[in-house]
Amino acid sequence: MCGIVGILGTTAATPRILESLKRLEYRGYDSAGIATLNAGTLDRRRAAGKLENLSTKLKEAPLQGNNGIGHTRWATHGEPSEANAHPHMTDRIAIVHNGIIENFRSLKAELTETGVTFEGETDTEVVAHLLTRYLKEGLSPRDAFHKTLGRLEGAFALCVLIRGEDNLMFGAREGSPLVVGLGSGENYLGSDAMALASLSSRLIYLEEGDWVEMTRETVQVYDTTGRPVKRSVSISQVASTMVDKGNHRHFMQKEIFEQPTVVAQSLGRYLDPNAGKVTLPDMPFELATVPKVTLVACGTSYYAALVARYWIEKLARVPVEVDIASEFRYRAPVYAEGGLCIFISQSGETADTLAALRHAKEAGQRVLVLVNVLESTMAREADVVLPIHAGPEIGVASTKAFTCQLSVLAAFAVNLAAAKGQIDDPQEDAYVAELESAPKLMAQVLHNDAKLQTIARSIAHARDVLFVGRGIHYPIAMEGALKLKEISYIHAEGYAAGELKHGPIALIDENVPVIGIAPNDDLIDKTVSNLQEIMARQGKVILLSDNAEDEAEGMFARFEMPSAGELVTPILYAIPVQLLAYYAAVEKGTDVDQPRNLAKSVTVE
Ligand code: AGP
Repeated sequence: MCGIVGILGTTAATPRILESLKRLEYRGYDSAGIATLNAGTLDRRRAAGKLENLSTKLKEAPLQGNNGIGHTRWATHGEPSEANAHPHMTDRIAIVHNGIIENFRSLKAELTETGVTFEGETDTEVVAHLLTRYLKEGLSPRDAFHKTLGRLEGAFALCVLIRGEDNLMFGAREGSPLVVGLGSGENYLGSDAMALASLSSRLIYLEEGDWVEMTRETVQVYDTTGRPVKRSVSISQVASTMVDKGNHRHFMQKEIFEQPTVVAQSLGRYLDPNAGKVTLPDMPFELATVPKVTLVACGTSYYAALVARYWIEKLARVPVEVDIASEFRYRAPVYAEGGLCIFISQSGETADTLAALRHAKEAGQRVLVLVNVLESTMAREADVVLPIHAGPEIGVASTKAFTCQLSVLAAFAVNLAAAKGQIDDPQEDAYVAELESAPKLMAQVLHNDAKLQTIARSIAHARDVLFVGRGIHYPIAMEGALKLKEISYIHAEGYAAGELKHGPIALIDENVPVIGIAPNDDLIDKTVSNLQEIMARQGKVILLSDNAEDEAEGMFARFEMPSAGELVTPILYAIPVQLLAYYAAVEKGTDVDQPRNLAKSVTVE
C-alpha cells in the first residue's frame, strides 16, 4: 500500500524523507516521489520503480527546503509510472495520498469543464485541483482544505503543502491511517509509526474523519465538522533503529528463522506453565456466555482462522463460522445474539477486515482482535485486543506473524474450552504443556532446512504445484500454496486431500509436484492413500510427515517432521511450506521481501 511522510522541519527535508520512505518500502510500492517547499516555491522529483531510482534523480537535481512531503505508490488508478507517481502538484499545492477517491470521475468531469487539464490518470489529482480552486476563490488554506475534504468520497490519507506557506501543512484521515509525529520545533505526518520511527516516538493517531492543521510549533486536530478536538499522544512501540536483516539474505528468511523465539515470547504472554493455565486479558464480557464465534480475516490470517475453527469447535464445543473479510459483510451474515467476532490481522489496518469489524460492531457483536501492531486502527476499535507479539514483520509474505497468530488462537481455544467447562484442570495443564513444547520442535524443523532447500530446487521451475492436507492441516496446505504463489510466482493450489478425486486429480502428471502434509494423526492413513492415488498417476509426491516410513516408498521426496499434538502440528508444518516457498523464490531470483504487485498492508478494498 502507499506510504506517506511529511516534514515541517528545521533542516534539509529531502534526506530525512528518503530515510522515512525506506522504512515504508515494506508496504510494497512501484514508484516514489518527494516535493519540497523552498523560499516559497514548490518543486518535486518522482521516479518509477524502486527508491534508488528516485535517489539517483535527487543526486542529479537536488531538492532544497526544510519542508517536504514524500510518497511510495502502490498503483490503484493508473499504471506505475513517473507521471502517475506522487506528489501531485498544481501551481499552488503539492499533495500525497493513500487510498481511493471513489467519486473521482465525477469530480474530474466537473474540473475538466472548468478548464482544468490533468497530467496523469490518478484519482489523487482531482484533490489537488479542487484544493487549488478553493484557494484561488480566496478561501483561507484551512477553509479551502476543509471544503475539499467535504467533496471527497472513499478512502484517503492526505498530506498537503501550499506554495508560499512555509510554516503550514495539512493532513487528513478517512479510511486510510495517518499519524502525527511531534518534534521539538518540528512536526511530522506519516502513514504509520514505522514511517516516523527516525523522526519521533511521540505520536497522535488521527481517528476516522479527523484532519489536522500543523505548523512547526502547533498541531490542531479537527473532526469532520471542523470542530477542534483533542487526541491523545502515545509513545511508539516501534524501535527507532531500522529493523535489520542481521546475517540473513532477506527479511523473510530472518523472520522464518526467528519463529521459535517469537512464538516463545508470544506464548509466554498467555501461558502460565506453573499453574498449567492460559491467561487472557480481562474482557468486558464473560467468555462462558459466548454462544458462537465468528472468525474474519484475509490471506494468511484467514488460514489461521480456518485452523482455529477446528480447535475451538473440538475443544470448546462452540459453533464457529469463518469467512474472508472481503465477502463477509456483503452477504448479510446472521449474527448470534451476544456472539463474539474475532478479527485477525498482522497489520491491524487491512481495509476489508477493518470494514468487517465495523459491520460486526454496528450489529452489537462483541469484537476481539489479534494484531501485531498495537497502535493499529483495529486495536483501537476492538473491545478486546490479543497482541501476537511477533515483532515488526517486514517481509511482505507473512511467516512469523502466522505462527504467532496460531499460537495465540490455540491458547484462546484452550481458555474458551476451560471457560465453557469442556476441559478440566488436568486437561488444560496438558494443553499448556503441549503448547510450551512448540518453540523447541520448531527449532528442530529449522535445523533441517538444507533438505528443504534441495527439495525446493526440484519444484522451483514447475508450472503448477499442489499442496494437500486434511483436517487442521488443510488450511496449512492453502497457506503453503499462497506462500509459493506470492513470492515465487509459481501457480499453486491448496486442497483438502480427500477432494482431489473430485476433479483436481485431472491436473496430475509427472510434471506436477504435490506436497503432502501428513502428520501422524487420526487421518494419516486416508491422507497417504490420497497421495498414493497421485503417485499412481506419476504425480511427484513430496511427503511432510513424522511417520509413514513404509508408505514413503516410491515418493519423490520425504521430509521428516517431529511428532507433536494437534495444537502444535499446524504451527510446525507451517515452517516447511514457508521454507519451500522461500528457497524456490531464491532459486528463481524473484524479489522475496517485496514481491511484484503485493503490499504488506492492503489498506484499500
Ligand atoms: C500473506 O503472506 C500476505 N502478505 C497477505 O495474504 C496477508 O496475510 C493479508 O493481506 C492480510 O494481512 P493482515 O494480516 O495484515 O490483515
